[in-house]
Amino acid sequence: MRRFYRGPDLARVHSVAEMAAQAQRKVPYFVWEYLSGGAEDELTLAANRQVFASYQLESRTLVPCHPPRVAQTLLGQRAELPLAIAPTGFNGMLYPQADLELARAAHRQGVPFTLSTVSNLSLEQVRDALPDLNLWFQLYAMHDQSVQSDLLQRAQRAQASALLLTSDALVLGNREWDRRNFVRPRQLSLRNKLEVLRHPGWIGRVMWPSGLPVMGNLAPYLPQSERNALGSMKFIGEQMDALLDWDKLARIRDQWPGKLVLKGVLHPADAERAVALGLDALVISNHGGRQLDGAPGSLDALARIGPRVGGKIELLLDSGVRRGSDIVKALALGATGVLLGRATLYGVTVEGAEGAGRVLEILSEELRRCLNLMGCTQLDALDRDWLIDNRSRADTEGRWAFAD
Ligand SMILES: Cc1cc2nc3c(=O)[nH]c(=O)nc-3n(C[C@H](O)[C@H](O)[C@H](O)COP(=O)(O)O)c2cc1C
Repeated sequence: MRRFYRGPDLARVHSVAEMAAQAQRKVPYFVWEYLSGGAEDELTLAANRQVFASYQLESRTLVPCHPPRVAQTLLGQRAELPLAIAPTGFNGMLYPQADLELARAAHRQGVPFTLSTVSNLSLEQVRDALPDLNLWFQLYAMHDQSVQSDLLQRAQRAQASALLLTSDALVLGNREWDRRNFVRPRQLSLRNKLEVLRHPGWIGRVMWPSGLPVMGNLAPYLPQSERNALGSMKFIGEQMDALLDWDKLARIRDQWPGKLVLKGVLHPADAERAVALGLDALVISNHGGRQLDGAPGSLDALARIGPRVGGKIELLLDSGVRRGSDIVKALALGATGVLLGRATLYGVTVEGAEGAGRVLEILSEELRRCLNLMGCTQLDALDRDWLIDNRSRADTEGRWAFAD
């Protein structure tokens, strides 16, 4: 049967920015703000991109172009690309069963997928659908220790190979769009209700079947009458542990037998403390600019942290990754891989697993092309010498003087 509307031709989407533009057209504006927005004046959101732009790439010429090897070991397991999908909450507002769609895209590309504590589908649902997915689980620390222990046990039973504890959201960042868009908790302003009516496609895809979905991992802890989106949000609002500290992290270390990763580290002293605690990896991240506005771009944080702890703990980076060359820059500064937040969310919003898969394909092609153009044949060869920091004339001049 001929479809009336065929949707965007994904093969004609050539960059993450183009996918973002398509995604914006698919959802009401308040959903777009939830997906793309940052905290306060969005200084950190902007810094994430500016920092990538401030590093230039060295290139060596007359290096024969063989297809570069881009597989990588992430947290002890092979990944076909040096990246994983980051944990993002409430994906069901973007596309039906978006958690599973993202997981499918990751699975097809052979990269890990991270399920958020506040996802719409549960650990069990994702694992049942994809038995051999490399699944990571992100934890928001909970006040109620029985809930937290149960989540950890469920993650183990679902064979999550890594636990990412998010440490940069003990209080929620100041996202003014969120307060503007809802007159009462989760009750849309009149303007936004009208905006919803302008998006019948979104109503049909997301709202029509059953309204906004419950947070699947939390559903078992909610009274039957509150097993819905509103009940989930109230629960997580009350449960998130604002008193999380290093001692509590040490207790989680004792409880979790697999790889333990601290997500949201920006300061070298915290990175050193995590090494002392025996953690397996860090995600250098400012939560995509959604938490502390004024925090440095994550690539700058990596540049400070890498030399202090490099080799003692695995480093991953997220926040602002939109190009294959961004991945190259992160690896050159000591990361083994990056996490993708909005990039794959744009794709899933446009066309579920196909859209997210197209984003992974674009980044994979860009990464390979970038390495070939640089004359760098393998990821292992990337180091600080492949980068020129635009902002530091001393750096550039020093290295040119050395080369002379
Ligand atoms: C819509 C959205 C929801 C998010 N939800 C979570 C979450 O539930 N848990 C978490 O640790 N981080 C969450 N994050 C942060 C991401 O894991 C990641 O750090 C960030 O998106 C990286 O920046 P990028 O979007 O520029 O790639 C969220 C980010 C976005 C954009």
